[in-house]
Amino acid sequence: MRGKFITFEGCEGSGKSTQLRLLSEYLTSIGADFILTREPGGSGISEDIRKIILNGKNTAMCDECEALLYAAARIQHLREIIAPALETGKTVICDRYVYSSLAYQGFARGLGEKFIEEINAVALSDYPPDITVFLDISPEDAFKRKRGADVNDRIEQMGLGFHKKVYAGYKALLAKHPDICAVYCGGSKEETAENVRKLLRDRKIIN
Ligand code: TYD
Repeated sequence: MRGKFITFEGCEGSGKSTQLRLLSEYLTSIGADFILTREPGGSGISEDIRKIILNGKNTAMCDECEALLYAAARIQHLREIIAPALETGKTVICDRYVYSSLAYQGFARGLGEKFIEEINAVALSDYPPDITVFLDISPEDAFKRKRGADVNDRIEQMGLGFHKKVYAGYKALLAKHPDICAVYCGGSKEETAENVRKLLRDRKIIN
């Protein structure tokens, strides 16, 4: 039987890395058979593509190129890492997936859903996530908590206006896709971790 596919989404500073670590620790403690991976990246070729996308020097990159590079990194990651793991029954937890492209490139960059859906057609049709956990915090609160953006990261440098659009994009996706579940993450990290585990248990995704 195919393993469960769990993806995490959120704006910059939502505490995604911490929550992924806490969930991994929990799954390890109960002996679950899982892998944790990330986008863009997760395989050798995809990590190389990641460096091009996020390189702060690549200011000339057009929006379509950016979207296509995320999609290219994703299909390689899917074929090489995610699909084989799912097919052997492993649970796969992925830090970001197609909804990131829809929120960032589709909504915030303004490329539109149709274009993003087309270039991510295989991921959407053959390997949709069983559940997407959206760590919900406004960009204003997230920036305060994080104390500013990483100057070396091209996307983080985009400023609050861009990240507010990303957040609005996620909210629009939430309204449309019942597989995306919002978990408020403005409280303590332990509280959020418990709410994430509860959600995944209630949906019979984890034990
Ligand atoms: P990363 O350092 O992994 O950020 P985070 O910890 O917030 O996940 O960098 C990934 C960046 O790429 C992040 O700013 C979100 C962005 N992104 C897109 O714009 N589109 C995508 O499809 C994906 C996967 C990520």
